[in-house]
Amino acid sequence: MSISTLPLNNGYTIPQIGLGAASLNDDQIAPVIVTAIEAGYRHIDTAFRYGNQRGVGKGIRDSGIRREELFVTTKLDGEFQGNERAVAGLDECLRQLGLDYVDLLLIHWPLPQRDQYISTWKTFEKLAKAGKVRSIGVSNFKPAHLDRLLAETTIRPVVNQIQLSPRITRPDHVAYNRAHEIVTVAWSPLGPGSDLLKEPLLATIGAMYGKTPAQVVLRWMVELGIVAIPRSSNPQRLAQNIDLFDFTLTTAEIAAISALDTGAEKRVDSDTMGH
Ligand code: A2P
Repeated sequence: MSISTLPLNNGYTIPQIGLGAASLNDDQIAPVIVTAIEAGYRHIDTAFRYGNQRGVGKGIRDSGIRREELFVTTKLDGEFQGNERAVAGLDECLRQLGLDYVDLLLIHWPLPQRDQYISTWKTFEKLAKAGKVRSIGVSNFKPAHLDRLLAETTIRPVVNQIQLSPRITRPDHVAYNRAHEIVTVAWSPLGPGSDLLKEPLLATIGAMYGKTPAQVVLRWMVELGIVAIPRSSNPQRLAQNIDLFDFTLTTAEIAAISALDTGAEKRVDSDTMGH
């Protein structure tokens, strides 16, 4: 069963599950990419900061997949903000990946204390028009950061990638993104940490459908219209994490999973964090 896609506000589409590539180096990520593509993944999420774009590119080439079948995201962090630095940044990402375009380029963090995300976005707009990137978006932006971006620039971000899981549901951020036709992408969808997957509720719901707690969490995201990019280097779990499209959750189950956010979990604050 194939992975569902969501429409972006510029006419392209994004697969609802992608492979998160953070935390693995070049040598580790390359075989994981091959396994993931063979299992059916068509969306890969990396970043300049992860330092593994060469390995991601190698994995893509080794898999033998046709470029146009893949959706590849990368991100530029603070060293590429301001002064048109994103132009050289994208070229460097493409060189490392061995690709001639990426599907999606994100501002990795807003870094509001630097006050450069508006000028960086204007450079991103030029890059989108030049064709080396199909779509542009942001990551770790709060509604206040997006308010400014939408008021002061022309092209709307297609996605906002934020930390999101049943422990950290950020309903105000998700509603804001939706109201502005910005797709929410969840990083660390199974976390933070490993405690979430031990929640008895997830096992109880999973038992009804023959699914694991991780599959219940990822299906919850699919039902909410969110894109998830779980990480795994384990072939069984990679396969499990896209085997979500043969069951649905009830409204009551979705609400119960959302209620696992007790507000107690430490969450990234992108006014003060990032790089
Ligand atoms: P592993 O690589 O050993 O599979 P996140 O991307 O939400 O931060 O989660 C990443 C962590 O979750 C990784 O440590 C990964 O470990 C683990 N993980 C990924 N998929 C599953 C799964 N289906 N079941 C249990 N753990 C998983």
